[in-house]
Amino acid sequence: MSTASATATLPAESIAAYRRDGFVHVPDVLDEAGVANARAAAVELSASMESLRYKGEPFTQLVNAWQHDERIRAVTLDPRIAELAEALAGMPLRLWHDQILIKQPQRSTATEFHLDAPYWPHTGARHWLTAWIALVDVPVERGCMTFLPGSHLGDDFVSVDLENATALFDAVPELRWRPRVTVPLRAGDLTFHHGRTAHAATPNLTDQPRVAHAVIYMDAAARYSGAPHVVTDPLGLETGQPFDHELFPRVLEH
Ligand code: SIN
Ligand code: NI
Repeated sequence: MSTASATATLPAESIAAYRRDGFVHVPDVLDEAGVANARAAAVELSASMESLRYKGEPFTQLVNAWQHDERIRAVTLDPRIAELAEALAGMPLRLWHDQILIKQPQRSTATEFHLDAPYWPHTGARHWLTAWIALVDVPVERGCMTFLPGSHLGDDFVSVDLENATALFDAVPELRWRPRVTVPLRAGDLTFHHGRTAHAATPNLTDQPRVAHAVIYMDAAARYSGAPHVVTDPLGLETGQPFDHELFPRVLEH
């Protein structure tokens, strides 16, 4: 089953914008049926999925949901999204993991500014990027993403608490003064952001849940660093080994 309506091509300006800014908005990637299927699956899983589930603030997080539902698997392994990701990264990628991210209605908790890649047990990765897919309309007041353009080009690589509004800026004061770009999305749109791009999400002040699906890719040549992480802890990987494991497929085989 294919869920994407966009062709897997990006205008050259989008690739240039991603490389300059560390994020890019790609409209209309999932069609209405694809969005409806994935949203229904996400909501069902949030009630039933026991493993790798976090239900607190700033979001309900279901990790590796593609292992639990065919409808989510169709999105996570959608080759057209992976093709877009490889075009942006400019290198072969593999799946790192996916996450359903639900901000419950009427919660004032933002996802505070952070970088993603410092949380991950990777060594030698030249690139990571996340496709953050809106499964409902996500205007600013429902919890959309905000990015600091160009922040992925800096040397700072800090892991901060994403519930602490000042932690990233205390660690990297220069970022406090950067312009911010907030990107509301229609259901079926996505943004890609680089694993080093500083980003945040607004609170969900509406009466509807904010339902998003994040598909995270890494350099296919990355190796396991041995650092603790919920995805890799149970797998018994050897430090320094490549991520040759069924949980980390090359979505596109060349
Ligand atoms: C969110 O969905 O609230 C944040 C996602 C992210 O940090 O990548
Ligand atoms: Ni993040």
